[in-house]
Amino acid sequence: PTASDPWRPVAHLTAEKNWLNDPNGLVYHDGTYHAFYQYNPRGNSWGNMSWGHSTSKDLIHWEQQPVAMEASPEEEIFSGCIVMDKNNASGLGSAKNPPMVALYTSAYGKNGALPQGAQAQSVAFSLDNGTTWQKYQGNPVLNLAPTNNNFRDPKVTWYEPGRYWVMTTVVADAQVVKMFKSTDLLRWEYLSDFSGVGAQGGLWEVPELIQMNVEDSTAKKWVMLLSINPGGIAGGSGMQYFVGEFDGTRFTAEDAAAPDAPLDESQWLDHGADYYAANSISGAPGDKPVLLGWMGNWDYAQDVPTTPWRGSMAIPRELTLVRGEKRFELRSAIAGAAREAMEHSGEVKSKNLTVGSSPKDLGQDFKGRTQLIELEMDLTSAREAGVLLRQSSGSDSGLRISYNKEARTVRVDRSKAGTSNFSEKFSPFHQVALPSPSSKVHLTILLDSSSVEVFAAGGRAVVSDTFFPDWDNTGASVFSMEGDTDFTVTSRTL
Ligand code: FRU
Repeated sequence: PTASDPWRPVAHLTAEKNWLNDPNGLVYHDGTYHAFYQYNPRGNSWGNMSWGHSTSKDLIHWEQQPVAMEASPEEEIFSGCIVMDKNNASGLGSAKNPPMVALYTSAYGKNGALPQGAQAQSVAFSLDNGTTWQKYQGNPVLNLAPTNNNFRDPKVTWYEPGRYWVMTTVVADAQVVKMFKSTDLLRWEYLSDFSGVGAQGGLWEVPELIQMNVEDSTAKKWVMLLSINPGGIAGGSGMQYFVGEFDGTRFTAEDAAAPDAPLDESQWLDHGADYYAANSISGAPGDKPVLLGWMGNWDYAQDVPTTPWRGSMAIPRELTLVRGEKRFELRSAIAGAAREAMEHSGEVKSKNLTVGSSPKDLGQDFKGRTQLIELEMDLTSAREAGVLLRQSSGSDSGLRISYNKEARTVRVDRSKAGTSNFSEKFSPFHQVALPSPSSKVHLTILLDSSSVEVFAAGGRAVVSDTFFPDWDNTGASVFSMEGDTDFTVTSRTL
C-alpha cells in the first residue's frame, strides 16, 4: 500500500486495476497455482465478465497474467472451474500434451448460441498451461431445456469409485444444486438434485462437492460448499456448508438445518461479511482441500472506495473435517504454503502484559498496517478483552477485535475503523460464538491493508471483514473490561 493506494493488500490477490469477484478455475499444475477469476477488463465495477488470471508459487505473491477469456457481445464468461484432463479423455489435447479443461457458464448476450439472458455450461481448453484458451466448438455442452436464466457455476471433481467426473451446478433462483456426470468432460448426464435444507434466503451460487477425511479417523465424508446471496449469517452474501454422503448419484446431508430454522443453525464457513464463492484448488498438494474465496459481499462490494482496483481474494485456507459434539464441522486454517511464505518475511515481535481497566498501547513494535498476529488472552477475572488495530493515536477509534467470556463470542467491530459511508449496507460488526466456554482464547489475526481475517477455536470460528482505515492510523493497543486480562501478543510484519 501507499498513501495514494492505501488499501492495496500485500498478502492477498487483487488485480492491478479493475473489478474482480469470484475465483474461478483454481488449479495447481507443475508447481504453479493458477487463479482465474470473474474480471471486468474494462471497468471498476461488475460487467463484461471475463476470466482474469494470476499465478503464484506460494499463494501469497501473485503475478497477473493476460486475460484468459474475454467477454464478447454474444457471451460473458461467468464462474466455473478447471481440471487437468491427464488422460486426454476429452480429446481436446493429445496424450503427449493433455489439455487443461475449463467448464464455465456462458451468459448469453445478443446473437449468442442461446437466447439473450440464457445461462448454460460451456467448455474451453488450453494446451499451453493456461496461458491461452480456445472455446470448444460444440458449446454449450450442458443446457437445461428449453433454456434457463440462472443455471450456472459448474465445479467438477473426479469420482474414483465410478471412474467419472461429477459436476455440481445451481439453478440459483430455485435454490437447487444440480449434479451431472461425465467420462469425457463434454457429454454430461443428469444425476440428481440437492435442495430443501439450510438457509434459503437468497440465490444459491457456486456449489462444490468435496470428499474429505474425517480427522483422527479412517472415515471419509462428503462436504457440499454453497454460497448464498443474500441470506448469509452476517447479512448479504455468505457461505454455508453441509456434511453427508454421496453415493455416486445423490448427495444426502446429515443433521442439516431445516430450511425455516434460524440462520445460526445452519453451518457457515465464515461468520464475517466478506467471504464468498470459495472453491477448492484442483490438484493442490496435501490431503486437505485448499480454498480460495472472494473477500467481498454483494451488499456493498460495488461501492467500496478502492481505485483503480476493486475486489480481493481472501487468504487461501485449508479445511479439516472434525466430529463435533453434535455434528461434523469444518475447521479453517491459513493454507500451509501461504503461512510458510508469510513466515519467511518480516520481523517478529512478542510481548506479555497484564491489562486492567485502562487500555495499554502496544507501542512502536506493534504499529503497522499489515501483520500476522497471534493473540493469546487469559480473562480469568475480566468479562471482555481484545485488541484495537489501525488505531488513531490518542483515540478509541480503530478496528476492534474482542472476546466476550460470558457470551463466548468473538467479535470484529469495524464501525469506527475508517471510511464506511459508501454504503448503508456496510454492516458495523460481526460475531461468532465459540463451541465451548473458556476464559482463555487464542486468535490468529491476519491484518492486511483493508481486511482482517480472525481464526478462533482452532479454526472452528472465522470472521473475515473488509474495512477501509485512514492511512495514518497504525497504532495498536489491548484492553480488558471488568477485570484483568493477561496477554501474549506476537506479531509478524508482512
Ligand atoms: C457469484 C456469481 C456467480 C456468477 C458470477 C458472475 O458471485 O453471481 O453465480 O457465475 O458471480 O460474476
